[in-house]
Amino acid sequence: MTSPTQGTATRYDKEREWLLPQGVVARQLATHELAPRPKRKARAAAFDELSGNTTLGVHLSEIAPGGQKHGHRHVDEAVIYIVTGRGWSELRQDDDKPDQRVEWQAGDLIAIPANAWHKHYNSDPDNPTLQLAFKNTRLLRKLFGSRGFVYANDFRFDDRYADEDDYWTLREPTEDGAIRINVIRDCLAEKLTELPEESGAGRGVSLQRYEMGGHLMLDVAMIEVVRRGYIRAHKQLTEEALYVLSGRGRTHLWQEGGPARTLKWRAGDLICPPLGVWQEHLTEGHDPARFLVVRNNFLQLALGTGHGLFDTVLPNRLPDLLEHNQAPALSAAQIGLEP
Ligand SMILES: [Fe+2]
Repeated sequence: MTSPTQGTATRYDKEREWLLPQGVVARQLATHELAPRPKRKARAAAFDELSGNTTLGVHLSEIAPGGQKHGHRHVDEAVIYIVTGRGWSELRQDDDKPDQRVEWQAGDLIAIPANAWHKHYNSDPDNPTLQLAFKNTRLLRKLFGSRGFVYANDFRFDDRYADEDDYWTLREPTEDGAIRINVIRDCLAEKLTELPEESGAGRGVSLQRYEMGGHLMLDVAMIEVVRRGYIRAHKQLTEEALYVLSGRGRTHLWQEGGPARTLKWRAGDLICPPLGVWQEHLTEGHDPARFLVVRNNFLQLALGTGHGLFDTVLPNRLPDLLEHNQAPALSAAQIGLEP
């Protein structure tokens, strides 16, 4: 079906009970169309299929006024942005520890550490709350071929979260310039670092990366672009989602010898640039634009190419390998087999 108000085609997956918008941009999430999910007793939409993504899940779900979600745990990494409303989550790692309570409201971003027990509550008796969850579930389901591995797994990632007293107030810089933090209060108020022109990021681009929940695959960053600024043309090796926190602008997408398209966006929209396609983002109007960017970085992580936000340079391994094959073989004495 097509929703004339949003200009985005959607389909409904009866088995998974998901409303699935298609295309590249989902419009105005705070008022986005939702469909009932009887098995979760909630209304939701899943942006899993935007840009044909297969490794990054993005789910918008509602908690009714004064309501709560089912408590559960899962191995997948997740971060949740609060689109509207206020409430709290109860989390714990250890089965025998008391829950830790974390309050949140619209504009906050909270990490759900891998396989920690968690349950969400809406504290507003009159209004629903909308949570936008970014997760790597679909990749894990694919890699391990088992729902139980993700949802009924007793392994504890206590190196990521061990019910520490200061876990939900922690804020510390990491060696590579990120901030280690597990709840960001008011994403719009975060101070970002302006990147110099020679960084090659574009014009008037500020950035801050975050390490949340001990996550390895899910990369979180905030990017702001000044009025009449831009993020330069690039293509990358990650599926990603950009939630527009403020401002408005346009995105150019193109392929060499293929189709090109310009898409307009404004605060409240969700953009998922397709994997491996050239993308460029430009601001319009009088204000800067700020994005919350969440990416599934598993390919760069696995290949050891770092957290590059813009281009992924694949390692060129061949020259070294050929060198090694020209080197003389080690003697038995050199590898310690003989005295
Ligand atoms: Fe969850």
